[in-house]
Amino acid sequence: MGRYNSVYDRWKNDPEGFWMEAAQGIDWVTPPSAALDDTNPPFYRWFADATCNTCYNAVDRHVAAGRGDQPAIIHDSPITESQRTLTYSELQTETARLGGALQELGVTKGDRVLIYMPMIAEAVIAMLACARIGAVHSVVFGGFASNELAVRIDDCQPKAVIAASCGLEPNRTVPYKPLLDGAIDLATHKPEAVILKQREQLSATMIEGRDHDWDAVTAAAAEADCTPVGGADPLYILYTSGTTGKPKGVIRANGGHLVAMNWTMKNIYNIDPGDVFWAASDVGWVVGHSYIVYAPLIAGCTTVLFEGKPVGTPDAGTFWRVIAEHDVKALFTAPTAIRAIRQVDPEGEFIAKYNLSGFHTLFLAGERADPATVEWAAEKLNVPVIDHWWQTETGWTIAGNPSGIELLDIPIGSAGVAMPGYDIRILDEGGNEVEEGTLGAIAVKLPLPPGSLPTLWGADDRFQSSYLKTFPGYYETGDAGMKENGTLKIMARTDDVINVAAHRLSTGEMEEALARHPDVAECAVIGVADELKGQSPVGLVCLKGGTNRPHEEIAAECVTRIRETIGPVAAFKKVGIVARLPKTRSGKILRATMVSIADDTPWNMPATIDDPAILDEITVTLKALGYARES
Ligand code: COA
Ligand code: AMP
Repeated sequence: MGRYNSVYDRWKNDPEGFWMEAAQGIDWVTPPSAALDDTNPPFYRWFADATCNTCYNAVDRHVAAGRGDQPAIIHDSPITESQRTLTYSELQTETARLGGALQELGVTKGDRVLIYMPMIAEAVIAMLACARIGAVHSVVFGGFASNELAVRIDDCQPKAVIAASCGLEPNRTVPYKPLLDGAIDLATHKPEAVILKQREQLSATMIEGRDHDWDAVTAAAAEADCTPVGGADPLYILYTSGTTGKPKGVIRANGGHLVAMNWTMKNIYNIDPGDVFWAASDVGWVVGHSYIVYAPLIAGCTTVLFEGKPVGTPDAGTFWRVIAEHDVKALFTAPTAIRAIRQVDPEGEFIAKYNLSGFHTLFLAGERADPATVEWAAEKLNVPVIDHWWQTETGWTIAGNPSGIELLDIPIGSAGVAMPGYDIRILDEGGNEVEEGTLGAIAVKLPLPPGSLPTLWGADDRFQSSYLKTFPGYYETGDAGMKENGTLKIMARTDDVINVAAHRLSTGEMEEALARHPDVAECAVIGVADELKGQSPVGLVCLKGGTNRPHEEIAAECVTRIRETIGPVAAFKKVGIVARLPKTRSGKILRATMVSIADDTPWNMPATIDDPAILDEITVTLKALGYARES
C-alpha cells in the first residue's frame, strides 16, 4: 500500500494543501485563495471565494484546448436500435443554444430547472445548459410517478421544466408528458415554462403558452455564454430517499464538485483524457450525475450514454457489445446488472463473442457486491473487478480501490480503503470507536471533502438532524459495517432505506402511501432478500375493523397505489394482509424480526415483544408470499 498510503497521508497531514493542489486541474474564472471555509460549522464550504463555471470545464475548455472533434457523448440505444455521437464542439453548440433558450424564457443564475428525461443526449445537454447559465438543475428519474415529481416541484420551485415526450422500457413506451402535466396539476408551485423534446416514438400534446418545443426554441435561440458562479453556489439538487415520505434535496456546489470529479477520474478510475468511460446507470441517479455526465466530461473523456438494460435489449451480450464497439476502457455498473447477465448467460458465452482487449476494469457500486457475482465477473472478464462504496450525499467514493494511484489487493467482500478526504470511523451507540472486526455505525469525521453535500435544499435543520446529530463532529452515513485489516466491509443500512436493484428507496415512504388506502389501518413495509435485485419490498397490511372486501382486491389496490404514487421503480409487488403487526410493548413495529423470518436468517425472540403469537401469523403470510421457506 505504498503509493496509496503516501497519498492518503499527504491529505491527512495537509487537507488544505491537498485540495488546493487538486484545484489546479480546474479552469477557474477567479482562482480560490483557500480550499475550505470553516467559519460557520457544521456548514462547510469549499472554494467559496473562487468563481467558475462547471459547463465551461466540462465542455468549452476542451474545445479551446483543441479537442473539439473528439467524441464527448456516444449515445447507444439498443431499444431504438440507434446510435448518435456528439463531439465536444457539437456539445458546446447544443448547450449554448439550450442555455440561450432558457435565458429567453427568463431563467437566470440561481433559478431552478427540473429535468425529467430518459437516457437521450438531450438529458445531458439539459444538465450542462443549466450549469452554463448558472441555473440549478434537479433531475428526476423517469421511473418516478407524478406524485414524486410534484413533491420535488414544490420543494425546489423550478422556474422551468425540461422533459421529453416519452421514455422507452423494453416492454412499453412510458408517456412522460401526462406524468409531468399530472405533477404540475398536483403541485402548488407552477413552473412558468416547459421545454419538451418530442421523440419520434411518441408525440406529446403541448399546452399553449406554457410548453415550448425543444427543436424550435433551440433553433431560434442565441448562444449563451458561460455565466461565472461562486465556488459554493449550487450546481444541482438531487433528491434521495430518507426515512420519511419527503425526499431529501442533496445540494452539490460548483467548486468542490469540479475539483472532486476531476480528481477521481484518474486517481480512482485510472482514466485519462480521451479514454472512453461508461457508467451503465441513469442520469436520474447520483452515479449518472457524477459518472455519466460530469466527471468524464470535466476530465475530457468520452462518455457512453446507454439506453437499454443488461439483458433483453436484445440479449445478455449487449454490455460486451457496447464495450467492444466503442472501445470502453472501464465500465461502472451495479452488481444487479451483472447478476442479471449471469442468470441468463452463466457460462459467459456472450463475453467470448466480443473483442474486449481494450477493456481494463469493472467497477461496481450502488449496493452490496456479493462475492459470487464479483468472482464470476472477474473470472469471465479477466479484468480487476472493483467494489466501491459511496452515496448520493457524497457524490463520489468514500471507500474503494484507487486504481490510478495503486491497484490494491482488496479481499472480495470488502469495499476497499478510505479515499483521501474521508476519515472513516466505526462507532458504537455511544459514539465510541469500536475495535477492528466489530460491527458499528459508519461515520465520517467532519468536514466532508469537496463535492459532498454542504446541506439539504431549504432544510439546514433537517441536514443537521439527519446526518450530524447522532455523533457530534461526524457525518452519519446510515450504513453499518466494520473495518478488517484496514479495509471496510459494508453490511447493512441502519435506517429504513432499502436497496432494490441498486435503487435507493424508503420503506417509510411506501408505508405512508399504503396508510392512505381507505381500508388500511396500519402497515409495515420491509426489504427482503432478492436473488436478482438484492432486496425487494414486501408490504404487511392490517385492515380497518368492519372491512369485508376480498383481501386479494385490497392487496392488488395496494400494489397499484405504490406504482401510481411512487412509481414502477419501487418494484412493489407483494402484499400480505395480517390481523396484527408484531410490536414491542412500547408500540414499535418489529420490522427487523420480520425481515429475519422472511430471509430465514437466525433471530432471537425480542425481549420486549408484546405478543409473540403474532409472529406465527406473520410467518404463515410470508410463506404464502414465497418467503420464510425454512421456518
Ligand atoms: N422510466 C419508467 N419506468 C422505469 C424506468 C424509467 N426510466 N426504469 C425502470 N422502470 C420501470 C421498469 O419498466 C419496471 O417496470 P415493470 O414493473 O412494469 O416491469 C420497474 O420500473 C422496475 O425496473 P427495474 O428495477 O429496472 O427492473 P426490471 O425488472 O425492468 O429490470 C434489471 C431488472 C436487473 C435488468 C434492472 O433492474 C437493471 O438493469 N438493474 C441495474 C441497476 C442499475 O443500473 N441501477 C442504477 C443505479 S447505479
Ligand atoms: P445512493 O445514495 O442511491 O447511491 O445509495 C447509497 C447507499 O447504497 C449506501 O448508503 C449503501 O447503503 C448502498 N451502497 C452503495 N454502494 C455500496 C457498496 N459498494 N456496497 C454496499 N452498499 C452500497
